Amino acid sequence: RIAGPCGMVLFGVTGDLSRKKVMPAIYDLANRGLLPPGFSLVGFARRDWADQDFAQIVHDSVREHARTEFREEVWNQLAEGFRFVPGDFNDDLAFDQLRRTIEELDEVRGTGGNHAFYLAIPPTFFGDVAAQLKEHGLAEPQPGSWRRVVVEKPFGHDLESARELNEILATVFDSGSIFRIDHYLGKETVQNILAMRFANNLFEPIWNSNYVDHVQITMAEDVGIGGRAGYYDGVGAARDVIQNHLLQLMALVAMEEPVSFDAESLRTEKLKVLSSISAPPRLDLATARGQYAAGWSGGEKVIGFCEEEGIKKSSTTETYAAVTLNVDTRRWAGVPFYLRTGKRLGRRVTEVAIVFKRAPHQPFAKTATEELGQNAIVIRVQPDEGMTIRFGSKVPGTAMEIRDVNMDFAYGGSFTEASPEAYERLILDVLLGDPPLFPRHEEVELSWKILDPILAHWAKKGKPDQYPAGTWGPESADAMLARDGRVWRRP
Ligand code: BG6
Repeated sequence: RIAGPCGMVLFGVTGDLSRKKVMPAIYDLANRGLLPPGFSLVGFARRDWADQDFAQIVHDSVREHARTEFREEVWNQLAEGFRFVPGDFNDDLAFDQLRRTIEELDEVRGTGGNHAFYLAIPPTFFGDVAAQLKEHGLAEPQPGSWRRVVVEKPFGHDLESARELNEILATVFDSGSIFRIDHYLGKETVQNILAMRFANNLFEPIWNSNYVDHVQITMAEDVGIGGRAGYYDGVGAARDVIQNHLLQLMALVAMEEPVSFDAESLRTEKLKVLSSISAPPRLDLATARGQYAAGWSGGEKVIGFCEEEGIKKSSTTETYAAVTLNVDTRRWAGVPFYLRTGKRLGRRVTEVAIVFKRAPHQPFAKTATEELGQNAIVIRVQPDEGMTIRFGSKVPGTAMEIRDVNMDFAYGGSFTEASPEAYERLILDVLLGDPPLFPRHEEVELSWKILDPILAHWAKKGKPDQYPAGTWGPESADAMLARDGRVWRRP
């Protein structure tokens, strides 16, 4: 799978996402030989830069963040296709220049009129840029070529704004040309959820409410908000992570088997499951939110969220969110899914834990199973990518004593190939026009529909509960599970 002749236009070249993810991924793809030799990259930003200045920015980002080794010859060939167009999103002349630049690249680099517009910019500008692309004839491909648009999350801030955004994009691009990025779907371990469930006969028979007690999906980060105050304040953990990454993970865990692995069949099943997910009625009991206070991280003292630069002391933005969700289907009736995410937690880890009901009967003495927990299948998305099955085993010795043990699968131990970065996979799929790993607009809207009542409930409350940096979130999150007689895993 190597992309045919094409190029990309990157809006938002000065942002974190471009620098840390998009630019390095492009280099890594080139280095792996997956981009066409004439690939071009046009940067667009309100900066007084020449092509060489832009090339320097990409160079620095590649040097710092690329996954694969730096090779002079790969870089030189790639950099020949770099161009920069200065201007802001309302500048007609700049978009005219962009059109001419693309035409020039088609000539000299053989990009064949095929270009992807990557909007690594705040969603408030999606509409403006899309309108400009349309007005300046950039969105309409010549016969036999393609134009695609790539949009980053957050896709709106609630159901209504997401719908508006979708409508705006739909006036410019047809639905097959719109690629919404949720980079979690580009992760190997996330795709492996489907392989594990549907390529094997071992797991699926027990993947239901007869055997599963509950599911915990955790995306924990040890970092704070870093330099992203402008983006994060007012957005918060639920909109930043639950609405997209965690609900997508949940959909993959809970969905029925798709007829095949094509985009349409996958989306059909994801839509079905997303439309059957809802929060329980008592949102005060079924959710928790928190904000990190000063504490410790990696052995260093760190400040609280409201002391971070650019954050107001009175900010009510949550940096931790936990929600209980139900799936109203026969398979999952009565099995709660607990989702949580937070910044400045104990450590960086993303995992899905399927926790099983206890065996209906124990023939052993009560004392023998005192240390036996519930069986669990834990899918480790990151770091230490892999999977653990936890079950009880006899402790060696003369007594019958049973204790939990782990059976481990680690990617590193089973495969020699390194996992590509999520962005490599997704950018390549955009250039190939391969849509299975991109959420379609109904999925995004259904996710907002699940979250909106929770956000409205929180909006009526004041400050989120505080938790010291470096801990596992507010006490209210523990209480949320304790009410159901359960505890969070400490990954
Ligand atoms: C992004 C969020 O989507 O995912 C960030 O906006 C978060 O707040 C990031 O830090 C985490 O991504 P990953 O791949 O490091 O888990």
